[in-house]
Amino acid sequence: MNNTIVIINYGSQYTQLIARRIRELGVYTEVIGHKNAKEYIQKNQPQGVIFSGGPASVYEKNSPSIYKEIFDAQIPILGICYGMQLMGTLLGGKIHAGKSKEFGKSDLRISSKKSSLLLEKIPLQSTIWASHGDELNVVPKDFSVLAKSNHEKCIAVIEHNTKPFYGVQFHPEVTHTEHGSQLLHNFVFSICKCKKTWQTKTQIKNAVNQIKDKVKNQKVVLGLSGGVDSSVTAVLIHQAIGKNLTCIFVDTGLMRLNEGKKVMDVYAKNLQLNILHIDASKIFLTALKNVEDPEEKRKIIGKKFVEVFQREAKKIKGVKFLAQGTIYPDVIESSTEGGNSHTIKSHHNVGGLPKTLNLELLEPLRNLFKDEVRKMGKALGIPAIMIDRHPFPGPGLGIRIIGAITKEKIKILQEADAIFIEALEKEKLYNTVSQAFVALLPVRSVGVMGDQRTYAYTAVIRAVNTIDFMTATWSKLPYEFLEQVSHAICNQVQGINRVVYDISSKPPSTIEWE
Ligand code: XMP
Repeated sequence: MNNTIVIINYGSQYTQLIARRIRELGVYTEVIGHKNAKEYIQKNQPQGVIFSGGPASVYEKNSPSIYKEIFDAQIPILGICYGMQLMGTLLGGKIHAGKSKEFGKSDLRISSKKSSLLLEKIPLQSTIWASHGDELNVVPKDFSVLAKSNHEKCIAVIEHNTKPFYGVQFHPEVTHTEHGSQLLHNFVFSICKCKKTWQTKTQIKNAVNQIKDKVKNQKVVLGLSGGVDSSVTAVLIHQAIGKNLTCIFVDTGLMRLNEGKKVMDVYAKNLQLNILHIDASKIFLTALKNVEDPEEKRKIIGKKFVEVFQREAKKIKGVKFLAQGTIYPDVIESSTEGGNSHTIKSHHNVGGLPKTLNLELLEPLRNLFKDEVRKMGKALGIPAIMIDRHPFPGPGLGIRIIGAITKEKIKILQEADAIFIEALEKEKLYNTVSQAFVALLPVRSVGVMGDQRTYAYTAVIRAVNTIDFMTATWSKLPYEFLEQVSHAICNQVQGINRVVYDISSKPPSTIEWE
């Protein structure tokens, strides 16, 4: 596959970031595991290869490596951190393990007089971001040292004298590295001679053609949740095959206020998707009666969702494909060794559908990152307000009503949540936080309204900032804004007389309350 850069994943937390940065430059990248490297590279002939960083030490027993013939193939290689150490030792250099640890910000100083394509347009001194315990201290034969870091103690950039092999000891993919993007740009365009072909318009065109080729005039079914991934998948497939796509929107009754109506307005009315709106709220409410345990709730909601979806899907005659909004980070996590896989809660994503349907999978977003999916969604005409929404968990309000769920509590929570979210939007604060919502506590407390004593529930306002949802900090929303929201909720929502703001970060808390 021409015009592709392949990244070999040695398990760095930044591997996906390298791929995203290069795609932002307009060039397609793929992340693969080191064990698949030989087969992949020989088959696909990428234009360049990047060895990612990783937590291992090259001299460790069983540390991940690479097939040696890769260095005979004339493909440009950039080794980053562990990747540089690996290339360095395989070609005859030496590593000093744990000699000069360099973590966080550091200084890069270009020392070589020799001009290098890799360092084009990068000033002689700049700031970099490093994260390593080992370092290359003897460079292999035929390599030159181009730059040093950590007050010139550490070899930071190396280059082969005649072949297109480069190594950097720091991380050009993180934004703290001042000229990291320029360095990747130099590698991709000046060294690998890639062309800028990865653009939203082309991505849509290719995806639509691939769907048409695969599906032909057969039928596809898809579980539409209103979330970004399933929505973009639906609109894309609709563009390719029109009415042969049927979307099933299972309304669990645990959605945000008027969610069903919003989804139908945007996707069925405006974008003409063929959607079955299934009101299954009674089924969910009955199954959840008196259930208090969060994991138990998740299991029940997941199971009922599958049952309802399956029942409805079977009613559509002649369906051959099940479409899903799987995106690239899910694929990388499950397919390359060394991917990060933290599981904190058993996320029974509503949408993870059963194999028993015996349908072939159609996953047109499999190669895209979330920001690419968002761009695609906007280009396909989905309103920004639907695309830039905060994530909403599959089990919905079911895990935001602490303890047992009742119809009354769902109504109270929906109203309170809508007030908070609308206020965030009105004050232009919505896009400054990563996720915001209200949770309802089973605690009732005494209050006073007019001359009346009240005894009502407590609402928790939660807003967090996060990059990856693995860790998060609570959002420092202005006091006046919080006061206004608290006032509005207590006054407008019958059943709530007290509002508290959650000032816990993750860890030790989690984003959701259950
Ligand atoms: P936590 O609460 O684990 O949440 O800090 C991290 C992110 O995951 C979402 N979340 C879920 N998503 N099913 C989902 O589809 C679930 O069961 C679930 N639980 C949490 C949460 O909203 C946040 O974005």
